[in-house]
Amino acid sequence: MSAAANAKQHKQAVREVFERVAAGYDNPSTRFFPFCADRLTDFVRPRPGSRVLDVATGSGAVAVPLAQAIGAQGRVHGIDISPAMLARAEANARKMGLDTIDLHEMDAERLDFKANYFHYVVCSYGLFFLPDMQAALNEWTRVLRPGGTLAFTCFEESAFQPMLEHFLQTLPAFGVSLPPGPVGSQRITSLHHCREMLEAAGLERIQTQVVQLGYHLGDESQWWEIIANTAMQALLQQVEPSRLDELRRSHLDYVASLKTADGLWMDVQTRFALGVKPGG
Ligand SMILES: C[S@@+](CC[C@H](N)C(=O)[O-])C[C@H]1O[C@@H](n2cnc3c(N)ncnc32)[C@H](O)[C@@H]1O
Repeated sequence: MSAAANAKQHKQAVREVFERVAAGYDNPSTRFFPFCADRLTDFVRPRPGSRVLDVATGSGAVAVPLAQAIGAQGRVHGIDISPAMLARAEANARKMGLDTIDLHEMDAERLDFKANYFHYVVCSYGLFFLPDMQAALNEWTRVLRPGGTLAFTCFEESAFQPMLEHFLQTLPAFGVSLPPGPVGSQRITSLHHCREMLEAAGLERIQTQVVQLGYHLGDESQWWEIIANTAMQALLQQVEPSRLDELRRSHLDYVASLKTADGLWMDVQTRFALGVKPGG
């Protein structure tokens, strides 16, 4: 299969998984998404009245605090490939009484915006889904005004461990074939890698940091809720429905053994990276 056909198929698969999980995406177990969104908004510190692009906006976790930060004179455009996620973003914006968020179904690698338009471009936990991450960052830089800020977040290697590793190791016995090499968030390997990609996009004044956004889950069933309502759900799709319960039990028996008096610790170490477009 050609690289282009591969990329198309990958995007279609990503779109489908988010179409399926959208209904359960905003739940208390996955509250690291809004936690991260608040930290990203603080990291970027957008000026009131700005034009902001939130790439891979999902259910609007970042679009909402950004819209609050830039006020009634500002405008946030949120784009995503999943209509179901965008519908959630729409509902969340309405719930918060915000009418300054515009939502568009759009591919993050091919933006329908003119060059030098946005004061800020942000993307939380979305870059690693894109087949060509550098091409995407270059495209986001194109639509950024000179002097504008681009920022993104991604997971550190320790995030969700040791549960995630056990989950991945359990899957092959249930007929799931994992692709070779790094997948998902593992495709961004370090803070240095984040910096290199921003530099290659032509950005300067780069800042990076790692923040622990983890918390204790009540029990192992909440960890399963995270698997079932995020991109990890795509792996469950490959399991024979009649064997799902066995997989769940065999994985959660291990996860239960990790619990302490405080519950089940979930590491969500997150990298934040930011760069500024020269000029302006
Ligand atoms: C883990 S969610 C993050 C959503 C949101 N930024 C947040 O922090 O909650 C990833 C989002 O990326 C979107 N996405 C994946 N590939 C995309 C693409 N090629 N173009 C636009 N959105 C994409 C998915 O549909 C999904 O909503």
